[in-house]
Formats: sequence, C-alpha cells, structure tokens
Amino acid sequence: MSQLPNSFPIKFAYWVPNVSGGLLISKIEQRTSWDIDYNRKLAQIAEQNGFEYALSQIRFTAGYGAEYQHESVAFTHALLAATSKLRVIAAILPGPWHPAVLAKQIATIDHLTGGRIAVNIVSGWFKTEFTAIGEPWLEHDERYRRSEEFIRAIKGIWTQDDFSFSGDFYRFHNFTLKPKPLQQPHPEIFQGGSSRASRDMASRISDWYFTNGNTLEGIKAQIDDIRAKAVKEGHSVKIGVNAFVIARDTEEEAQAVLNEIIEKADLEAVNAFGHEVKQAGKASPEGEGNWAKSTFEDLVQYNDGFKTNLIGTPEQIAERIVALKAVGVDLILTGFLHFQEEVEYFGQRVLPLVRELESRQADQVAA
Ligand SMILES: Cc1cc2nc3c(=O)[nH]c(=O)nc-3n(C[C@H](O)[C@H](O)[C@H](O)COP(=O)(O)O)c2cc1C
Repeated sequence: MSQLPNSFPIKFAYWVPNVSGGLLISKIEQRTSWDIDYNRKLAQIAEQNGFEYALSQIRFTAGYGAEYQHESVAFTHALLAATSKLRVIAAILPGPWHPAVLAKQIATIDHLTGGRIAVNIVSGWFKTEFTAIGEPWLEHDERYRRSEEFIRAIKGIWTQDDFSFSGDFYRFHNFTLKPKPLQQPHPEIFQGGSSRASRDMASRISDWYFTNGNTLEGIKAQIDDIRAKAVKEGHSVKIGVNAFVIARDTEEEAQAVLNEIIEKADLEAVNAFGHEVKQAGKASPEGEGNWAKSTFEDLVQYNDGFKTNLIGTPEQIAERIVALKAVGVDLILTGFLHFQEEVEYFGQRVLPLVRELESRQADQVAA
C-alpha cells in the first residue's frame, strides 16, 4: 500500500526523562537529569523550539538502570503547569491503574491545564516489576485484550453518560463522570508496542500507535499492515516512531558520539534488560514485536532508537525525517544525550530544514 506524503507538517515529541539515567544504558556522561527543575526547563525549551508533545514514562522499579522514577501522571501535570502550549502524554499501565481512576484523574488535569493532556496506554513487558508490586502477570496477548478493554472503558466514560460495559476485565453500570474532560471528544489515546496484538489493537481503537525505532523498511511494513487493517475496521490511526537523535555539525562527530555511547554501554544492565524484554514481542504467539530482533547495540537505547538512524548532520537528519513522513509517519518521538542543549539545537538547526523540505514537496505535488 503506497501513499502520498501527509499534507500536514510532521510533528515532534520528546521523551520526558522522568527516570534516572537518561535514555541510554550507558556510562557515557549525560547532561540530562530526571529531576523536576531540569524537566520544567526542558519542557519550556521544547515548546519554544517547535516540539508539540512530550511523552512521560511509567516505571515502578529499576529496569534498564532507571533506578529512580517519578510517577507519570503527577509528573505530567507538573510539566503542563510549567508550559502553555506543549501537550504532555502520561504513560499508564492497565493492571496498576483502574480505568475509572484514570478517566477521572485525566479529566481533572485536563480542566486544570487548559486541555493539553493525553495518555499512552502501555501493555507491559516487565514481569519482575509486576511481581514486585503484587500485580498478576498476564500472557502477552491477554495483556493486549485487557488494554483494549481499558481503552474502550476510558473512551466510554469520557464520552457517554450512564456508561455500562461488561468485559472480561472491567465492568461498569450506569456510570456518569462529571465533569467530562475539556478536550472533545476526549484526550488523545496513544499506545505503545509493535507485536501482532498491538498492531491489531491500534487498527481498531487507538488514536496513535507508538513503535520502537526501526529501519525505514521495517517502519513502512508496520504502517502498511496497520493502515490496511484500519481501513477494514473503519478506523484511522496516526503513527509515531521512536528515534534517538545525534545531530552534530559533521557526520564524523555524530558517529563518534554513537561509538562512545556503545563503547561505554553498561554490559550487565543491557544484558539484564535483554533478558526481561523476552516477555515482550518474543513472547507473542507470532514471535514478533518490540525487541524481538534487537541486537546488543540496539538495546543500549532501550527503545531501539539508533535503528531509525537520525544520526548525522542536520541536513542528513532532515532528509531521513521527510523519508519517514513519506512512508506514513506522523510524529517523531525523539531522545537525546544532553536533552536541554540538544532539543534546542534540533529546534534551531534540524526543524527548519524539515519544514523547508516539506514545503518543497508540497510545491512539487501542486505543480
Ligand atoms: C514509545 C513507547 C513508549 C513506551 N513506554 C512505556 C512505559 O512508559 N512503561 C512501560 O512499562 N512500557 C512502555 N512501553 C512498552 C510497551 O507498552 C510494550 O509493552 C512493549 O512495547 C512490548 O510490546 P509488544 O510485545 O507488543 O511489541 C513503551 C513502548 C513504546 C513503543
């Protein structure tokens, strides 16, 4: 299934570093902090530099390092309170969260912050974490069956009065949420994952599908698959792709940074992470999905962010972003080594080139 480039400008998000250790499992120096002062300033820099979204993470225990973790919904609220345009996406795990609690929390924050919150429903890959907090661990596809019910439940609560629902995981009887969220019809619902079950859920119900970093071909294959299914379901879903960005004035500098990150990888933590993620894509019936094919080097950025290859000069990166857009990507989810400095560099040096290439393409289509 081929398609014309989307006519709207591609959007940019950044990962909120609300867990310690940045976005890398490496001992390289990172001028990135998980604390609130650093993150408030980062959010302000991001919204002044063309970033539309920020994505927080949910973690209850250390995983890929990430020894300290701030909770995602509370942290999201703090970032929204410190900004005026940025949309912040809070990550939620069905299991620890009940849909009624989440729907109410988000509706309230939506009113407190002028309608800028969104949610990322993540289905879980970290069994040790669930065991640590006494939460039952479901098989791979059961986790997605629960997530889909969770999404149907929050959508129902946000949009209907006297909401009733009878699922295998959740039940509601004539429940009316007041107030409903400010955003109509409801705050945007993102999801993370890339297995068959995850893609099928996206093609039925989510507003946005977030996937790990991948090659252009790998991303295109996923998008074609999801969008073909979504058409049959009468649904439309937008696509966000993770990428760890290393933008430097020369290609050599950017490659040298990548080499140093890999050379200084925390071997023990990367291997432990590689073991845990076997509960994700590899545990799915088809054996595909996130991390199913990741090498040691891929895992050093814990969402396969090097694979997307936004590593090089601003010109090279802008061209690759436009190529991603051409295969149907709507949003790039970025991670950086030194977040504050590099978000600004990206906004000043890369983003204008992307907009220029987009407008040239639009002119070619119109001609
Ligand atoms: C962009 C993105 C963000 C994610 N954020 C989180 C998170 O904050 N917490 C978490 O436990 N899992 C997170 N996940 C993991 C997914 O929800 C899912 O468990 C994982 O990708 C495995 O999916 P799969 O087996 O369907 O491929 C994220 C995944 C992606 C792609």
